[in-house]
Formats: sequence, structure tokens, C-alpha cells
Amino acid sequence: MKKVITFGTFDIPHVGHVKILNRARELGDYLIVGVSSDALNQSKKGRKPVYNQQERMFLMQSFKGVDEVFLEESLEEKRDYILKYQADVLVMGDDWQGKFDEFKDICEVVYLPRTPSISTTSVIEVVRSDEWENK
Ligand code: CTP
Repeated sequence: MKKVITFGTFDIPHVGHVKILNRARELGDYLIVGVSSDALNQSKKGRKPVYNQQERMFLMQSFKGVDEVFLEESLEEKRDYILKYQADVLVMGDDWQGKFDEFKDICEVVYLPRTPSISTTSVIEVVRSDEWENK
């Protein structure tokens, strides 16, 4: 069985998240998602997620095609997670292009193109803006 692993915050799930998860799943038979902890998100993105880590893990577990979910507590532990979950393929969005090539000694590393014009940040900005108020 070919196992695929990917990582992310997945806060306020959107079309870009669903597309990358679907494409990741197609690269193997079993998809494992590492959901960033609230603390990791705070240090990585400088803000608290809208949905907490339990809620984001629950949402990911509910996605068709996601077989297993765990909490990613540290960016420095990627190698340990890949080994622990015996992943054959690491999938990342191409915003990380080249950044995980160091793991090519233990798995295949694939960068998939991001879906244009959508992100959790942009959803938050639209909802906050006058543009949304006047819709
Ligand atoms: N992703 C994607 N297309 C998008 C947005 C995200 O393919 N338009 C992918 C990312 O490349 C990553 C995964 O979805 O592999 C999780 O990304 P995450 O950082 O949680 O989502 P963003 O919407 O980019 O969040 P933010 O705006 O908070 O940075």
C-alpha cells in the first residue's frame, strides 16, 4: 500500500484545501494529514486559527479520501513524522517548492500547484471587509 502524507493548518476549509487533498490522495492508496497545532500556527502565521486544533482535526477526519489525521506539533519533526507514519510520498503545496527536498532520501517529495485566488487569509479578509457587508 502506497501511503501519502501532507501537512497544513486547514483553518476554515476551502476549495484549495479540498483540491490539494484530492490530488494528494490520487498519488497513493492511503492519505495521512498532519494538522498544525494551535501553538505551531501561532508561531508560523502569527495568529490564532479561527477553528481550534480539535475542530480542524475533526474536519479533516470528515473529508472523503483522508484516512488518518494527527497533530503536527513542530515543523522540525517532519522527518520523524514521515518515518513514524511510514509515508512513501510527501505532498506539499508549491508555496513550499524545494523546501522539503532534504526528505528525498526517505520518500518521494511532490509539490502540487496551489489553487489560485483562495486562501484562509483571503476568506478572513473578505468577511471582515466592506465588500462583504455590501453583498
Ligand atoms: N493550498 C492550496 N491552494 C490554496 C490554499 C492552500 O493548494 N489556494 C494548500 C497549501 O499549499 C497546503 C494546504 O493547502 O499544502 C494547507 O494550506 P494552509 O496553509 O492551511 O491554507 P491557506 O489557505 O494557504 O492558509 P493561510 O491563508 O492561513 O496561509
